[in-house]
Amino acid sequence: MMLPAKPARLAHFAMAAVALLVLSACGGGDDSPVSTVQPFKTLSNGQPLVIGHRGASGYLPEHTLEAYGRAIEMGADFVEPDLVVTKDGVLIARHEPNITSTTNVSTLTKFASRKTTKKVDGVDETGWFASDFTLAEIKELGALITDAERPQQFNGLYQIPTLQEIVDLVKARRVSSGRDIGIYPETKHPTFHRALGLGIEDRLIASLNAAGWNSRSAPVLVQSFEPGSLKEMKVKGLTTRMVQLIDADDYDLKTGKLSYAAPYDRPYDWAVNGDTRLFSAMVTPAGLAEIKTYADGIGPWKPYIVPIKATLDSAGNIVDRNGDGKRDYNDASSQSATSLIDDAHKAGLFVHAYTFRSEARRLAFDYNKDPKVEYLQFYRLGLDGLFSDFPDTALQARKDYLKELGR
Ligand code: G3P
Ligand code: CA
Repeated sequence: MMLPAKPARLAHFAMAAVALLVLSACGGGDDSPVSTVQPFKTLSNGQPLVIGHRGASGYLPEHTLEAYGRAIEMGADFVEPDLVVTKDGVLIARHEPNITSTTNVSTLTKFASRKTTKKVDGVDETGWFASDFTLAEIKELGALITDAERPQQFNGLYQIPTLQEIVDLVKARRVSSGRDIGIYPETKHPTFHRALGLGIEDRLIASLNAAGWNSRSAPVLVQSFEPGSLKEMKVKGLTTRMVQLIDADDYDLKTGKLSYAAPYDRPYDWAVNGDTRLFSAMVTPAGLAEIKTYADGIGPWKPYIVPIKATLDSAGNIVDRNGDGKRDYNDASSQSATSLIDDAHKAGLFVHAYTFRSEARRLAFDYNKDPKVEYLQFYRLGLDGLFSDFPDTALQARKDYLKELGR
């Protein structure tokens, strides 16, 4: 098993060797500067982007102005609002139309009767839904952190923001910091919202027009799992850069292969339209070429780039490599990278992978409980950007990566 820190040490050693060779080729020993700066492998030839996934959601309740602000203070290049729609047609930031787990709505007796069951992407869900609340009512709620092992002391303290408030925050921070900070809005469950008469696409285009951010050079990347949503916005005049997200249901630790089960097997608009392809079709050369007709990049789940696989014993059972008595993800190791980044770059698409998280329980065995090892692995592959719940760690790792490149 390779020690996680080894590649970095090897890289430094290799660079030092190159520097010595260059020095001796130049006659060596004089004081003339020697450049050993190595190029980025990204599509743009720039450094990889760090996107604050739902804000700095490892620290604060996700999708709040406070979480976005924290990500920006940490140095994130983009913050990522997921968008759903209120009953009165306002775009707000939530990961799901069902706001039960991300807000304190279930604790408020005045809203008890709003509990209901709705079908979201073909699956019955029971709870409280943003589309049954006016914005004024949404503003009575407090956001919750969704992971029980993350800080709980901020629960209920922060409001649910509108897209407009997020745009205002980012514009203000761009001015105060002088940095090129962007937003990375996602149309969440577009088919679901359209069926309610609350389509996200027209509203997002109107918001970006009003912000003066409907252009290719705007600090905006628009993403969706549903190709139809991106295509509709393109036809309706959205000119920002766009990103096709690529999902899967799970992976099989024994084979290292991704698995596909509804509703995560294919985009829901494909399911509705009878397109039987799986998300996996998107990462083939033909799939990438198709995406290139309407988008600028792809946002794949990270095992599409680095598969994770366990070691099996002679009986075919997962070996408990970390000795904790469980046989799970923490016992599996990262495998050789697929060709997806190279294939996407060849197709003219950048690659922003999701989601990077720091907790040891979320790291494969060979990352040795150090999230920076995972970041470095992906940066070295030429990844163009990544979504992280912990932008500070992603940025520290990026600094280390830049040092490796002599930058
Ligand atoms: O949008 C990229 C990534 O955020 C998709 O994952 O979990 O937020 O739906 P998720
Ligand atoms: Ca184990």
